Amino acid sequence: MKMLVVLGSPRKGGNGEALARKVTIAVEERGNTVEYIRLNDLNLRPCQGCGGCDKTGICVVKDDMTPIFQAVDEADRILLVSPVYFYGLSAQCKIFGDRFQARWARRYLLKERFRETDGRKGYLLSTAATKGPKIFDCSILTARYIYDAMDVEYGGELLVKGVDKRKAVLEVPDEMARAEQFGRDIVEGRI
Ligand SMILES: Cc1cc2nc3c(=O)[nH]c(=O)nc-3n(C[C@H](O)[C@H](O)[C@H](O)COP(=O)(O)O)c2cc1C
Repeated sequence: MKMLVVLGSPRKGGNGEALARKVTIAVEERGNTVEYIRLNDLNLRPCQGCGGCDKTGICVVKDDMTPIFQAVDEADRILLVSPVYFYGLSAQCKIFGDRFQARWARRYLLKERFRETDGRKGYLLSTAATKGPKIFDCSILTARYIYDAMDVEYGGELLVKGVDKRKAVLEVPDEMARAEQFGRDIVEGRI
């Protein structure tokens, strides 16, 4: 099994990344491959809404998304890692997600399914400083829709509230343990 981790925070070694590294321990321990992509390091243009993908399902904007499309297509499990920014995904994640308009076109305009029966799954890992009951609602909806465009089943989410400073989550052992369990749940097929 190959897992792709898409780091969507501009903050290196932040809360999301710390949790993601814990999730992938369980995945790697069982002999699976894990690849990390840090969106903030890449040259990614936002979707131009040009319709250039409508007839092909392929994005006409040529930038660092090109290898990412391939990495996503080859991954069996995808983990999108985003902080909550103004009640939604980070801008980096939103750009990444919007570019899957090309895959949306392939699925819904061209009616082509992509590896629909192979059990590929995608997950959301998100952290927020506050603890409001709706703090992750927008991010979950957006992540679900991105995975739908990819033709990847949504497998669920790991959400951690009340962590703000970089690495704050390292001081919350229960949440770190929950992340490790999340990884085990993924590789053992519970989620
Ligand atoms: C631009 C910006 C917007 C943010 N918006 C919210 C927000 O709407 N709600 C919230 O609870 N935390 C918000 N936060 C705090 C982050 O979600 C929180 O610090 C998170 O744990 C950061 O994760 P990271 O360390 O992986 O980047 C915001 C932080 C920044 C920098």
